[in-house]
This record gives sequence, C-alpha cells and structure tokens, in this order.
Amino acid sequence: MSRQKELIQEINKLKKSKNAVILTHFYQRPNLYQIADYIGDSLDLSRKAASTDADVIVFCGVQFMAETAKILSPHKKVLLPDKASGCLMADMIEVDDLIELKMQNPDARVVCYVNSTAAIKAESDICCTSANAVNVVKSLPDKKIIFVPDKGLGGYVSSLVPEKDFILYDGLCPTHWRIKPEHILKTKKEYPDALVLVHPECQADVINIADYTGSTRGILNYAKESNVKDFIIGSEVGILLYMQEQMPDKNFILPTGEAVCENMKKNTLDQVYSCLINGTNEVIVDPEIALKAINSINRMLAIQ
Ligand code: 13P
Ligand code: SF4
Repeated sequence: MSRQKELIQEINKLKKSKNAVILTHFYQRPNLYQIADYIGDSLDLSRKAASTDADVIVFCGVQFMAETAKILSPHKKVLLPDKASGCLMADMIEVDDLIELKMQNPDARVVCYVNSTAAIKAESDICCTSANAVNVVKSLPDKKIIFVPDKGLGGYVSSLVPEKDFILYDGLCPTHWRIKPEHILKTKKEYPDALVLVHPECQADVINIADYTGSTRGILNYAKESNVKDFIIGSEVGILLYMQEQMPDKNFILPTGEAVCENMKKNTLDQVYSCLINGTNEVIVDPEIALKAINSINRMLAIQ
C-alpha cells in the first residue's frame, strides 16, 4: 500500500477514536480533500466549527480560520496541522492601527474581514467573509464604515453599497493581486467563450472585467449552475483543482500560474496524522480577546 493510502487509513481511524472532525478549505492541497469531513469556504467552515459536536477540530486551513473555530468552540481542542500557516493579509494590520482609525472616526462602525487576527476581531463591531460582506455592511444602520484589512474586498463592497461612506484599510491579498487584468484578457483571447469568475480579493481592474465575482463557494456554485463549459478562474489555484475534480465535463482555466497561496499549501497529510495522534499544534486564543472577538463573529453568523 502507498504511504499516502496508509496515512489516509490511519487518519480515518484516529478521527473515530478521538471523535475528531476535519474541516478543509478549498485552497488546501488536493490530497487533503480525501480525509476531510467538510470542504468549503470560510463561511461554511466557521458555521461547521460552531455547530460540530466533535471533541477535536483539525483545521486544514490557515491560522485565522483555526482561531475563529477556537473562538466559536472554546471547549474543543482545535489543531492546525502546520502552525506556520498564516495569512499575509491578516498580518498587514496591527491592533494599534485599528484603534487609531476608530479614534479618528468615532461615528463609524468597524467591519473586519474574517481574514484577520482574533485581536482585530475583538476591536471590530462585526465580522464578514467574502460570501456575506455585502449583506453584513447593508445590515448596519450606520453610514460610515471602517473596513479592515482588505482593500480589495472593501472596495468591491463599497461599489455595491454606494449609499455608505467607506474608510478602507490598505491591506490586500498578495496571491490574488498577482492576477492582473492582462492575464485575464490574454486568456480570454484564447478562450473567447469562457466566462470569467473571480474572487473579490482581486484588484478592482480584474473584478471590473469579470462576469461573476464571489467567494470560493460562490464561484463553485456559479460554475455548477451554468450551461457554459469553459471558465477562467481568478482565484487561488486550489478552488480550480477542486472544481475540476467535481465537474470533470467542464474546463477550468487559470489565467496565471502565480496565484498560489504558499501558506494554504503548508498543511500536509503527514502533519494531519501527527497532530491527531499526538494532540499537538493546538490553537490557543487569549480568553479575554476571545470573549470580545466572539461578538463580532456571532453578529455575522446571525446574518444569512
Ligand atoms: P473564501 O471566504 O472565499 O473561502 O476565501 C478565503 C480566503 O482566504 C481567500 O483568500
Ligand atoms: Fe490570506 Fe490571500 Fe492566502 Fe487567503 S489566499 S490565506 S487572503 S494570503
């Protein structure tokens, strides 16, 4: 038996004996799909983390996702197979930056993208993901919105909710910003019938030439429901590989080979096995911060 098959068998046994659940983001390495109980976007996975009755959550994703799961399930053990799986965007803002923005704009509400640290969530009024950001912003009665840390998603939301005034923090996702309009236009020339589906973390020039903009789950659902066969995908390569596996009759095209999130690729099957068997790589969130952060996450989860 191959090492991979052996590991998958062992992990499946350990899941049962430890009453563990494995939550896996679309951007993870494809062999991690095989041991996942749930595969989804950030919103799907935070809902699963909030509702699971497992004792252990193994989060195949990045730090902010595992932290969110821990905040939502403080009495469960949350394990992150590779603890170095961070998010470059989440690391672009410090709590002091946000506190200063709040002081300069006392009449504004703070919306933080889930791609942020627990400390940023604790200083925010409400959290959002790329799947619900527009609804979250619309749910607020206030006119002035401080949106952190992603100016890509924030800019996209502000274009759809023009009645509000946005103060956008200057953060971005380096992976999505490596996708340039010229990559899309060049690929479109090769596949003129293809639809362009992009993630809102992309820069505005890319979003403006897309046929659809949405979260990873949104992109997947759009392709599933469409009669079109070819799709140019403006997001991290992982969602493309997952969709290709799910929809073998359709053709998913990457406009550039550079859209790879190195952090999302850190977790491996070996590490999943090792953290499950040893109970290592536990995610700990300062309880005081967690108590404040949970409010912004729960306010988001209350919105459809
Ligand atoms: P989704 O919310 O679409 O899963 O995106 C998460 C993410 O980190 C994208 O970079
Ligand atoms: Fe962070 Fe971008 Fe990687 Fe998502 S793709 S985890 S936003 S760096």
